[in-house]
Amino acid sequence: MPAVVIIGAQWGDEGKGKATDLLAERIDYVVKFNGGNNAGHTVVIGDEKYALHLLPSGILTPGVIPVISNGVVIDLEVLFYEIAALNARGIDTSKLRVSANAHVITAYHRTLDKVTERFLGKRQIGTTGRGIGPTYADKINRVGIRIQDIFDENILRQKVEGALYQKNTLLTKVYNRKAIAADEIVADLLSYADRLRPMVADTALELHQALEANQTVLFEGGQATMLDVDHGTYPFVTSSNATAGGASTGSGIGPREFKTVIGIVKAYTTRVGAGPFPTELFDQSGEYLRATGFEFGTTTGRPRRCGWYDAPIARYSARINGLTDFVLTKLDVLTGLKEIPVCVAYEVDGKRVEEVPVSQSDFHHAKPIYENFAGWTEDISTARTFDELPKTCQDYVLALERLSGCRISAIGVGPARDAIIVRHDLLGA
Ligand code: GDP
Ligand code: IMO
Ligand code: MG
Repeated sequence: MPAVVIIGAQWGDEGKGKATDLLAERIDYVVKFNGGNNAGHTVVIGDEKYALHLLPSGILTPGVIPVISNGVVIDLEVLFYEIAALNARGIDTSKLRVSANAHVITAYHRTLDKVTERFLGKRQIGTTGRGIGPTYADKINRVGIRIQDIFDENILRQKVEGALYQKNTLLTKVYNRKAIAADEIVADLLSYADRLRPMVADTALELHQALEANQTVLFEGGQATMLDVDHGTYPFVTSSNATAGGASTGSGIGPREFKTVIGIVKAYTTRVGAGPFPTELFDQSGEYLRATGFEFGTTTGRPRRCGWYDAPIARYSARINGLTDFVLTKLDVLTGLKEIPVCVAYEVDGKRVEEVPVSQSDFHHAKPIYENFAGWTEDISTARTFDELPKTCQDYVLALERLSGCRISAIGVGPARDAIIVRHDLLGA
């Protein structure tokens, strides 16, 4: 069971952090391979609640070696802030490894994220404002700053000056903002060098060696399939590959190693930020899901948009990621509903469409076609086996499994670490 991937199957916040935490006891390495501090993972352990953004959730488990690999964009201030916050709570972070090839988010990326959003006006994406998009844009444009550059002041200065030459023209002439001084950026980045040096590694090599030695490596995706820059609802996406393929390019581990790919899917759907969302609810039911599921962003605190389960999206995720298993989360949130609608297909311009349409305009117009399932009233949060669930609740899960293109191997029935029903061992394949 060497390389295991966990990804979000919807628009994020499915409970990936909790799923990682669940498996962490049995793994050797946990790797964050994409995104940055736009992610927000809440993990509840006993009475303690942890909100992680940049650090992988596996860091909470003693013995696990946490890795931030090359596909991640790193805000160093956030990195050291999170490390200090965890250390203050008695969590050991000394084993953290950071890829020399990961890109760095600087002050100018954060500024550009905010001003470009403002200039988009009604076409805003609703980014987290953390500088994620501009940092990945620089990476692709080959003007990015990498972790390794911080250890060579000359190179760092050249690169920062090069990047700012164009950006300052843009900031001052187009966006009416002040120019950013290269010296300040360089001094800021250099101030982290000594603390960073011991963590920096050839993480691709280390992970490869771990896999050769038959150790278990868990790749923890940030964001989700529908936010993936290639496969999501472009342009209303993040700027990285949040799908399973991103685990390979984002870490330097070849695709043959990945045998288990776990998709985390909520028993309903949420989305933060703008973009199409066919099953979105604008009525009391949506309010109910938001209040009962406590659907407010871990990173920005924004209320999450809420809607019913969308089976074509689950099927799409099963395909795009090559899922072997789903973990269905937050089933307990649906307790008390009389009827639970599930989107089984869409209507687009009067025609029934079974799968997520490839055309963005079609997806924008897609109306959900619902099938209704009977609800349940019993508290399910203490159930630990499938048989303990009320019959209608079992039927709901079995219907989702039938409609979603992959088996549901575990079911979340509460935020706590042990509030889970395991039907098939996720690491048993
Ligand atoms: P992530 O970004 O995918 O890691 O998910 P978030 O942490 O942003 O959001 C998921 C939220 O749901 C967190 O507050 C979790 O504590 C909580 N959660 C996870 N699984 C369950 C579950 O099965 N039931 C309930 N009620 N809450 C859950
Ligand atoms: P986790 O890992 C939910 C959304 C933002 C915005 C879009 C682009 O907790 O599931 P960005 O700042 O990445 O350029 O914003 O993506 N977004 C998320 N939504 N969960 C996340 O992470 C998200 N990370 C980014 O709201 O719509
Ligand atoms: Mg989240």
